[in-house]
Amino acid sequence: QAQGDAEAGKAKSATCVACHGPDGNSPTDMYPKLAGQHASYLAKQLAEFKAAATGGEGRANAIMGGMAMPLSEQDMADLSAYFASQAIVPVATPEDVVEQGAALYQGGDIERGITACIACHGPRGEGLESAKFPSLAGQYPSYIATQLNMFRSGERNNDPNGMMRSIAAKLTDQDIEVLSQYVAGL
Ligand code: HEM
Ligand code: HEM
Repeated sequence: QAQGDAEAGKAKSATCVACHGPDGNSPTDMYPKLAGQHASYLAKQLAEFKAAATGGEGRANAIMGGMAMPLSEQDMADLSAYFASQAIVPVATPEDVVEQGAALYQGGDIERGITACIACHGPRGEGLESAKFPSLAGQYPSYIATQLNMFRSGERNNDPNGMMRSIAAKLTDQDIEVLSQYVAGL
């Protein structure tokens, strides 16, 4: 895998910033924040947007497919290093979802066969760079909810071994609502 250079990535980011913001803190929740996300996870997503756009298996998205198409492996590594090096602007969790969110995030639900999110995404929602488990803390709740819905329907299927699809399949709409607001504020 190519070694990323954050300075080079910044220079290549001009087309990204319109949606994701100059420092990866997207100005609206129509676009996910990239700031502070693990470089290895970002690079995996870019490679998979490109793969899906060119007829292979990956992560299908019309906008990002077009954006990733012209990127080389080096470009992807540089852009990922740049956005990873930026600080994410935090999000606050509404008080009324903390209890239910914490219970599900930290403990899962044995009866329903839901693995605790904390096992992979960490106590502070920080993920794990070496395993390409993404950071979730500070992300927009609406984007998190959209991704959980897409894992549940199988529309997003680039999670290795169906790790996310198998969990999301067991989540209710209400679980998704609560978890999205909870993890954003971790
Ligand atoms: C998602 C990078 C340009 C709109 C993403 C993701 C990455 C990324 C890594 C996945 C985030 C995650 O999984 O947490 C980039 C880079 C760009 C770029 C490096 C420049 C080369 C743009 C532009 C737009 C855009 C210009 C808007 C026109 C989106 C949207 C998503 C997304 C809508 C969410 C896709 C989904 O829901 O699956 N981008 N982006 N991006 N980006 Fe970009
Ligand atoms: C991705 C939430 C449990 C492994 C994601 C994403 C979200 C999420 C929102 C997409 C992030 C983004 O697009 O930026 C959750 C929640 C969980 C949970 C709320 C509990 C209900 C787990 C567990 C594992 C896991 C237990 C490990 C067994 C992963 C992996 C990805 C991911 C590997 C990245 C998939 C890819 O490469 O595209 N998770 N997760 N998650 N999650 Fe989870």
